[in-house]
Amino acid sequence: MSASDFETFADGCRRDLERALAEWLPTPPEACPERLHEAMRYSLLAGGKRLRPVLVLAAADAVGLGHPDARRLALPAACALEMIHTYSLIHDDLPAMDDDTLRRGRPTNHVVYGEALAILAGDGLLTEAFALLAREPALDGPAIASRKLQAMALIGRAAGAWGMVGGQVLDLQWEGAARQARAEDDLARLRDVHARKTGALMRAAVGAGAIMAGGTPEQVAAVDAYGVELGLCFQIVDDVLDVEGDASSLGKSAGKDAAVGKLTYPALFGVEGSRQRARECAERGHAALAAAGLSGHLPAILDWTLTRRQ
Ligand code: IPE
Ligand code: IPE
Ligand code: MG
Ligand code: MG
Ligand code: MG
Repeated sequence: MSASDFETFADGCRRDLERALAEWLPTPPEACPERLHEAMRYSLLAGGKRLRPVLVLAAADAVGLGHPDARRLALPAACALEMIHTYSLIHDDLPAMDDDTLRRGRPTNHVVYGEALAILAGDGLLTEAFALLAREPALDGPAIASRKLQAMALIGRAAGAWGMVGGQVLDLQWEGAARQARAEDDLARLRDVHARKTGALMRAAVGAGAIMAGGTPEQVAAVDAYGVELGLCFQIVDDVLDVEGDASSLGKSAGKDAAVGKLTYPALFGVEGSRQRARECAERGHAALAAAGLSGHLPAILDWTLTRRQ
């Protein structure tokens, strides 16, 4: 599988995703007040990388051996993950959290719509994600109903107190905190923050994709192990890009983590040490897939994560 095969796959996914996201976003006047729709749409359809929904579709393909039904069954979960992720970004950027003014190459949601509407647009996206998971795919039968319930439980746990929300709390808690006496205690804190704030949603993405496509429990466990490594790898590289990147290519501010004293990989290990650790995650992610005989596009996503520039 070459890098260009992966780009072709990801572009195809993104085309389907953009269409489905626009279709499933509640529209005014009946389903949503005009201003709320505008604020939700502003961030959701602002051209992010769409990594989490691409992961959902790639995992569905991997266990469904590329069968077109696998992708169709997984598309609602893919869109739900992107809604939840976008809500997390809107809230992450608020003045009370990271206080950022640039996201996806545009002014952040609260800069344009004000804090109250930004909070509510995030709430709207989060809630809509679960309505969508319950509603789609609108097929009868106990097998699909059971897959939908499993995916909802998985995503709910990953998005909430155990996962992303919990990780965001710890991220803020350790911001500016003094280093601990033992370096391994700092590392344990950091791994926990990254696993929760970023890893949890990536694990849920591949898990939900595999579940919706009818994967076996062994396959679901294998993509979960892959998701653990991918999530950590992705957030290590995010921390590195905050040091090395610039706002125009990232589409978000750079250099903020060190300025506010975030606990990050570069803060503990420097840029080269961080990149080395990201490579080790990728190797473990490849091994988890290989052990379960899974391939498709999932391995290429690990390689892309290591070389991404935005
Ligand atoms: C940013 O996620 C938040 C992190 C978990 C690092 P992405 O880098 O996937 O952001 P978008 O979706 O492409 O904007
Ligand atoms: C955010 O981590 C993870 C989320 C749950 C949104 P960061 O705060 O490092 O993400 P960026 O760098 O602002 O995208
Ligand atoms: Mg943050
Ligand atoms: Mg941030
Ligand atoms: Mg960051």
